Amino acid sequence: MPASHPTCRLVKGSVMSVSGLTIKASASLVIAVGLVFVTLGLSTVLVKPAAVGDAAYPLSSVPVAAAPASAAPAAGGKAAAAPAAAAAPADLTADQLTKADAAAGQKIAAKCMVCHNFAKGTPAKVGPNLWGIINNKRAHMEGFAYSDAVAHLGGTWTVQNIARFIFKPKAYISGTKMGFGGLPDPQDRANVLAFLNQNSDAPVDLVKEGAKPSEPADGSAK
Ligand code: HEC
Repeated sequence: MPASHPTCRLVKGSVMSVSGLTIKASASLVIAVGLVFVTLGLSTVLVKPAAVGDAAYPLSSVPVAAAPASAAPAAGGKAAAAPAAAAAPADLTADQLTKADAAAGQKIAAKCMVCHNFAKGTPAKVGPNLWGIINNKRAHMEGFAYSDAVAHLGGTWTVQNIARFIFKPKAYISGTKMGFGGLPDPQDRANVLAFLNQNSDAPVDLVKEGAKPSEPADGSAK
């Protein structure tokens, strides 16, 4: 009897601990699965408003042909108070373009340089070389593997188009492979444009070019 007792306990004990393990394991499985669902749920909730915002944005930026009417007086009349409601929010004002500073733009463009070369004749990196990109044709670099979205855009990169593109690249051209979050500050964008303009054989008058009607965001609007 005294010999069977401990054995009995041992057996009981191991059964207990085995079931304990099982309970623990299944509990953490439930927690893990729960976490996955919570994360998935959260991300859909978090992604949805952004997607709605993104979807809303091209709609307001696509009818660019309609924009010059409202953009031109905005430039002339300095209606800087209502850029969020009027025209496309990413458009740069004459004031911002007048103040645009290439040296400041170069510092901001350090972010672009992760993927782009700006100097004449230098090769593509993750993105195409950007020498002389203002008023150049879209998908300008021969041999670069553009996304279908950008390859089929047609048209040219006007000052306001670039401003809108670098505001929120994927919202402006859905399907672009430019993996860059964007520059929310308009003066940052104006400064980068001044830097782009400096890296060109034929720099333009940014203010004058900025007042011109923009090309549609994508081919569908043509
Ligand atoms: C993470 C890499 C990355 C960063 C950062 C980045 N780009 Fe790009 N960029 C790309 C890629 C890739 C393309 C090609 C897009 C496509 O084919 O969809 C591109 C395309 C472009 C184009 C169109 C060129 C053409 O030939 O049509 C412009 C203009 C541009 N980028 C400007 C900028 C500017 C300005 C910045 C910084 C504010 C910047 N990019 C930051 C990767 C990047």
